[in-house]
Amino acid sequence: MRQKVIAGNWKMYKTIPEALRLVNQLRKKLEAQPPRRTRVIVCPPFTALAPVHEALQGSNIGLGAQNIFWEEEGAYTGEISAAMVKSTGAKYVIIGHSERRRYFHEEEAIINKKIKIALKNKLKVIHCIGESLEEREQGLTMEVVSNQVEWDLKDLTPQDLKNIIIAYEPVWAIGTGKTATPEQAEEVHSFLRDILDALFDKGAGKGMTILYGGSVKPENAASLLSQPDIDGALVGGACLKADSFFKIIQASEKVG
Ligand code: PGA
Repeated sequence: MRQKVIAGNWKMYKTIPEALRLVNQLRKKLEAQPPRRTRVIVCPPFTALAPVHEALQGSNIGLGAQNIFWEEEGAYTGEISAAMVKSTGAKYVIIGHSERRRYFHEEEAIINKKIKIALKNKLKVIHCIGESLEEREQGLTMEVVSNQVEWDLKDLTPQDLKNIIIAYEPVWAIGTGKTATPEQAEEVHSFLRDILDALFDKGAGKGMTILYGGSVKPENAASLLSQPDIDGALVGGACLKADSFFKIIQASEKVG
């Protein structure tokens, strides 16, 4: 049985006081109705990681960062290392988000280095992939996602995969209000399992937790999460309010 995961990507939102307010509200809701099969993860901005970790002491909510640099340390002004993230108490890191690929020119070779350094520092990786609208319209979706999986995860072992969660996030669905239909998402998720089997070993695909991301909301969560190959969601906009994030967690519990 694969674990259900609902992860919130806060992006560049929330000051430290705002972040604490949000996690305290979320914690209260989750303590009143503890999820039985869903792992909940929050990924606030770097500045809020340590305070949020403190606020989450004794709870089951996982904590993750949204990025790391690919070297252990050095003269890289403004960057944050995997060890620094680890030292805040975070256990996860999002790598390869389409906004990083787009605005910071992160391509496969960079993402591959970041994933390797994260794993070396014992951070679990939420690895994002997905095609643009243009690529989908040209019928290139499967080619794009299989290339991303192949090159981003280059040189990794089947053992490494145990510390990776894949998030399929079609770029055209992120922050646009347009969601992939459950069938469109399911088709890609099921294909990704075949690709993982081919690249690693048989069973790699079946064992991988694969999340869907892109305008997931309380209203559409249940239909997406009830697909057999969708194991959870990476949520942007709707995770910024405790209420809507909690409703998505509840949807996961119901279909799980
Ligand atoms: P969204 O973002 O839910 O706001 O579309 C998802 C993501 O970027 O991870």
